[in-house]
Amino acid sequence: MLVLGANGPSGRRTVQQALGRGLRVDALTRRPQGFPTRHERLHVVGGDATDPGVVDAAVAACDAVISVIGAPFTRHPVDVYSTSARLVVSAMQRHGQRRLLTVTSTGLTPVDQRHDIPVLERLLAPLARRTFGRSVYDDMERMESVVSGSDLDWTIVRPPGLTDEPGTGYQSAENWVDGGYCARDDLATLLLDQLDDTRYLRKVVAVSTPGLQVRTWQTIRRELLKR
Ligand SMILES: NC(=O)c1ccc[n+]([C@@H]2O[C@H](COP(=O)([O-])OP(=O)(O)OC[C@H]3O[C@@H](n4cnc5c(N)ncnc54)[C@H](OP(=O)(O)O)[C@@H]3O)[C@@H](O)[C@H]2O)c1
Repeated sequence: MLVLGANGPSGRRTVQQALGRGLRVDALTRRPQGFPTRHERLHVVGGDATDPGVVDAAVAACDAVISVIGAPFTRHPVDVYSTSARLVVSAMQRHGQRRLLTVTSTGLTPVDQRHDIPVLERLLAPLARRTFGRSVYDDMERMESVVSGSDLDWTIVRPPGLTDEPGTGYQSAENWVDGGYCARDDLATLLLDQLDDTRYLRKVVAVSTPGLQVRTWQTIRRELLKR
């Protein structure tokens, strides 16, 4: 299995849990020397996920791909989601691999498909989509089009705000599930569970951690500072 974005906080947890399940893992990162885990079943691949040669070689060596690649909010154009997705899809088609899981965000879910969200979020979500989050969300949307337009066995996973609190078990459903946060541990567990699960094949799945108590401002501050 290949993990793109392996050195991010969700990527590291995905790699660790995969090793715990006895899987063989290839972890792609631009900073291989900074990757914290060493293991006999782990191959840390140094390279950029927008480099066709890097992606082709990495995909050729694996049987499934999980992408937790991410970019910070910025006013500048973002293309890492869609460019890496295009390369991964064509490399998987070339090498005959089928299973692809990609992570985007509930930020893409239209407000009228979100049940039971507070009035403030109902007002703020479209604002975030159009202002500070625009370039990232636009590129996530392009990534979703590339992935869902492919003939692969894809699943698009949309989490809400991610946190570093310990995972306590996720809830998931097609398109939308209540809950404003998801522990990265739980996101990683869902991604790995989906490797052998056909429930969300060629579907968009929402995931959250029920009952997660989060101090909103502290979480936002930590997410901004981690960049
Ligand atoms: N943070 C949230 O609250 C939130 C909410 C909803 C959805 N999401 C999405 O969930 C996913 C995981 O988020 P996260 O916060 O755990 O991780 P993240 O901080 O977004 O990190 C993702 C990793 O992607 C890697 N990356 C970026 N550009 C790359 C490139 N060109 N080539 C190779 N690797 C590249 C970086 O690792 P290297 O620098 O080591 O290469 C980075 O550590 C992302 O898709 C994010 O957009 C996040």
